[in-house]
Amino acid sequence: MIYPSNTLTSNNLLGMTQLSTDDIASIFHTAAHMKKSPKDHRAALDGKAVMLLFEKPSLRTRVSFEVGGAKLGASVVYMDHGSSRIGEREAVKDYARNLERWCDLIVARTFSHTTIEELARHTDIPVINGLSDLEHPCQALADFFTLSEVFGELKGMKIAYIGDGNNVCHSLMLGAAKLGMDLMIIAPEGYEPAPEIVSHSLRLARATGAELTITDEIEAVHGRRAVYTDTWVSMGDEREAGPRRAAFAEHQVNEVVMAMAAPDAVFMHCLPAHRGAEVTDAVIDSPQSVVYDQAENRMHVQNAVMAHLLGAASLAGAAETYENVEVKSAKRRVEAA
Ligand code: CP
Ligand code: NVA
Repeated sequence: MIYPSNTLTSNNLLGMTQLSTDDIASIFHTAAHMKKSPKDHRAALDGKAVMLLFEKPSLRTRVSFEVGGAKLGASVVYMDHGSSRIGEREAVKDYARNLERWCDLIVARTFSHTTIEELARHTDIPVINGLSDLEHPCQALADFFTLSEVFGELKGMKIAYIGDGNNVCHSLMLGAAKLGMDLMIIAPEGYEPAPEIVSHSLRLARATGAELTITDEIEAVHGRRAVYTDTWVSMGDEREAGPRRAAFAEHQVNEVVMAMAAPDAVFMHCLPAHRGAEVTDAVIDSPQSVVYDQAENRMHVQNAVMAHLLGAASLAGAAETYENVEVKSAKRRVEAA
């Protein structure tokens, strides 16, 4: 079994901005191998401790990290911050400096993205963003991995995101830009993605040939091979629920919308879904829906990310990739010198 050192560009996964296109390819390669041959990876994180620090509820992120970590031999500790924010009882800096004495990696789910950045600033152990107000990189990685399983090549693929331009949309946008995809964002006025994420994605798109378009017209879903949506009321937005439901009412993904997409289009959702709101039962329960594949793949891509960040990506049976990865990281070291 080969255990290379961290082969990713960054020591953390705070957002999609930290991953190069090569990093995404390496993660997908490891994730595919882990999914196919889980027994080869049973000891990848042997003796490692993973800390989950969550300020918001979770089904998928919590369970996929807990079960996923255990499948790689790690112990995973969950700390519930549902009733108090990280940094209230003691400074974020002190969380980071205590946790690194016991743990090897932190996964944080926070209201404010700056809390995750602050954790990462004050510790040398890797920090993974398990969702913040700005990004949800683990979700986007699982989504692109799922699309690659269904359709193969991602470059140039035409997909649509319909709904709120926030965390999930941001990570999809940055990822699509890095992967050279063609992403149509359909968001009602006032709910478009953040301008700094848009401009960063457009800069990335110039290098990869990606196409990124933002509109409020639902007809723009025409011919798209994936139709993705998210809740209209994200965690933390509950006080604005009324106006949000009104603003998004015309942006429901239903059978009429799916009929405008490509004939082989898939329906995607990060979940949890609000059936009858952003998506109808008929769509989410249809054969076009890949939502539970996305959920399953959260575990495989996150396990790959953890293994890479902790220098334990077992690439047994993938020697060629291992060599390529080594060449790339050696090149990076030369460039950095
Ligand atoms: N998609 C996702 O992150 O789900 P949870 O909120 O249940 O973790
Ligand atoms: N945008 C949603 C995603 C949940 C996984 C939220 O932040 O609540």
